[in-house]
Amino acid sequence: MLNQHFIDMCGQKSVIRELFMYGRERAAEIGYDNVFDYSLGNPSVAPPQSFTDEMVRLLQESEPVSLHGYSPTLGIDSVREAVAESLNDRFDMRYEKKDIFMVSGAAGAIAHAVRAVTVPGDQVITFAPFFPEYNPYIEATGAELKIVPADIRTFQINFDALNDMLNEKVMAVLINTPNNPSGIVYSSETIQKLATILTEKEKEYGHPIYLISDEPYREIVFGGVDAPFIAAHYKNTLTCYSFSKSLSLPGERIGYIAVNPACEDSALLVDMFGQISRGTGHNCPPSIIQLAVSKCLYETSDLSVYETNKNILYTELTKLGYEIVEPGGTFYMFPKALEADAVAFCNKAKELDLILVPSNTFGVEGHFRISYCIPTEKVRKSNAPSPLLKSWQICIAKLIMCTCNLVVLYIDCKKTATSNFPNNTSTEKAPDISTYPGLYI
Ligand SMILES: Cc1ncc(COP(=O)(O)O)c(C=O)c1O
Repeated sequence: MLNQHFIDMCGQKSVIRELFMYGRERAAEIGYDNVFDYSLGNPSVAPPQSFTDEMVRLLQESEPVSLHGYSPTLGIDSVREAVAESLNDRFDMRYEKKDIFMVSGAAGAIAHAVRAVTVPGDQVITFAPFFPEYNPYIEATGAELKIVPADIRTFQINFDALNDMLNEKVMAVLINTPNNPSGIVYSSETIQKLATILTEKEKEYGHPIYLISDEPYREIVFGGVDAPFIAAHYKNTLTCYSFSKSLSLPGERIGYIAVNPACEDSALLVDMFGQISRGTGHNCPPSIIQLAVSKCLYETSDLSVYETNKNILYTELTKLGYEIVEPGGTFYMFPKALEADAVAFCNKAKELDLILVPSNTFGVEGHFRISYCIPTEKVRKSNAPSPLLKSWQICIAKLIMCTCNLVVLYIDCKKTATSNFPNNTSTEKAPDISTYPGLYI
């Protein structure tokens, strides 16, 4: 019999993916330059050269049978050792090889972590705004995802609401900092407060509450922002890391879980992850990718473009009157929409080929997500001085606090782009990512 649960899921497609597909179709119709697609969180910069060089070296110099052979269940020993060492060097921790489990990205890491520390019926708490894929990750385990409402003034943790929701059935708390979609980085104060509350509740309930720390954006932090290493603040932390964003490798599906050595049952947990991957058939991430990333653990892609794009958008949108909590990292921004109905607002923008993601999908009303992992040139076009800008600025002044501000900005940028390319024949090639299957972010 077909499994009804997955049949039902087919009717609940990702809003983000649908918007991205719409953007692709519009680009085919009117030209890539005329569509301002801020929907998808796919890195827009190349992996570091050292990664490519290492891949080439491995292919040319390694013995092919072992290079392409199955990796051990928990990951290649030398890779696990190198990951532990890099965490110790960078964050003054005490990880060993035995604490590291190699896995297919943060998605795989979270799916393993939740399975290891919950049984069906247990609760996992997360905080709005949150990455919507947490719903399928958690639902598939039989645990229940509970959402703490957002503190929309800061997008740090709403502790009053958290305290109300904690109960004996909560076995794990899932956090994501730097955060998708808000771009906010939880401060040391926030993390310390969270750690204190969870430690008290562990004593009260008589069982551990694991902190599953989803950290694909750990390296994308803007200048001067306080970005604590979570596991240093709370012993029962399972760090779910991904190389998808830091090394721009989302298609290679590689990451790890680092179990804090001080964590309850740390040795058992890593062994359990190996058994979970056997059970889900999601085992042994590709050997060559494990080996290549292990040579790039102290590097990143050139991530500076994201801060440049953030600065342009944050400055221009706040000038227009948008209320935005300034992102401390990632490549996302989460402004307040100019009307309560975020879907209606994003639909208006969509009519003008500006593609934004309404906040409802992230568990918050009245906001929208901008994914600015797109070429800076394209972001600049949104703000380029043009003969039209002055008149639009006057319009903007008149329309301030009405529902059309952002739309007006983009009418301007659309016209600028159209005047550059009068026949809508785009000279700029759309990034190849748009042709890739499997985008879901
Ligand atoms: C917050 C968050 N968690 C997890 C993931 C999954 O990342 P990965 O590619 O490592 O599976 C993403 C991807 O965008 C994300 O934004």
